[in-house]
Amino acid sequence: MKTVANLAMVLLLSVALIAGCGSSSAQKDSGDSGSSLESKEAGKLITVGFSQLGAESDWRSANTISMQSAFVPEEGYNLIYKNGQQKQVNQITAIRTFIQQEVDYIVLAPVTESGWDSVLGEARDAGIPVILVDRRVDVADKTLYSCWVGSDFELEGRKMAAWIDSYTKRIGLDASELHIVNIQGTIGSTAQIGRTRGLANAARENGWDLMAEVSGDFTETKGREVMAGLLKRFDNINIVYCENDNEAIGAIDAIEAAGKKVGSNIRKGEIMVVSFDGVNKEALDYAKEGKISCIAECNPLHGPRVRALVDMLVEGETPDKFNYVDERLFSSIPDVTEVKVDGVSYPVQGIDE
Ligand code: AHR
Repeated sequence: MKTVANLAMVLLLSVALIAGCGSSSAQKDSGDSGSSLESKEAGKLITVGFSQLGAESDWRSANTISMQSAFVPEEGYNLIYKNGQQKQVNQITAIRTFIQQEVDYIVLAPVTESGWDSVLGEARDAGIPVILVDRRVDVADKTLYSCWVGSDFELEGRKMAAWIDSYTKRIGLDASELHIVNIQGTIGSTAQIGRTRGLANAARENGWDLMAEVSGDFTETKGREVMAGLLKRFDNINIVYCENDNEAIGAIDAIEAAGKKVGSNIRKGEIMVVSFDGVNKEALDYAKEGKISCIAECNPLHGPRVRALVDMLVEGETPDKFNYVDERLFSSIPDVTEVKVDGVSYPVQGIDE
């Protein structure tokens, strides 16, 4: 199956890159690279300053590696990588440093959407085009950035909600019997806003009991901590919507530590976990075992896509402002083979060995 092969390829590439880099990749994720000296010495290379938001998840590590692999000196680029450590202030400082270094292009993966107007104005005043990757910025003047590439996060959430709707109807649950908690991503990030909205709207329209929305910051540790707290607050949770796989892994740990069973057999008292990404090997193994019932893909391999956008700008072309990546739904439960959102059908694919 081509699509499953694609998922495997995404996974293998991510895992192989992560594994292949070993501890040095971890060092790269937690530190910075490049300097103004290196930038100057790079001569004719196209210098790209990349402000990555952090290293909170396996998705993020795969994304960083994809960027670092796409912008290499052998192919004419000098990438200056800065890790924002989840703090917008660090990303703003990185952009100001890139401006001082007179980089040719700035690529920004913003941690949250608001608060970028001033610094992006400074980049524009310096004549440096800004390309957004993954998440977006909420600025009054959309000409402050050239273009964006990433996922349709709200569509991901709506597809997941449609899957929950189909599956729970298939097993004969009434809407009022769905007791859902949402472990959200980083509040104010595009991924959180879209995925939260996708679920919240579906819950309202279908009459589901959406009991709580709490941020797990896209990390395994917070996912575990938040889930443990939710289990103390509510004794009737039967669906956990985790806004990424790392949170799901933490949440599953917490559910099992509380002596409860994770799975899709809600009628028999199991707690069903669904999540987003499809990058993390442990999460995919959990999906095969039925501990994660459905995963909405979020593709992290944006390096070549961003490079194509930079190349267009280098050539004086105008790329599309918004560039969406096609993504899929995966589940090892065979009951639901497709979901519909706004009349469009999306296949649900199996997770093969
Ligand atoms: O913005 C993309 C999200 O950020 C991914 O789903 C998550 O894993 C990451 O941290």
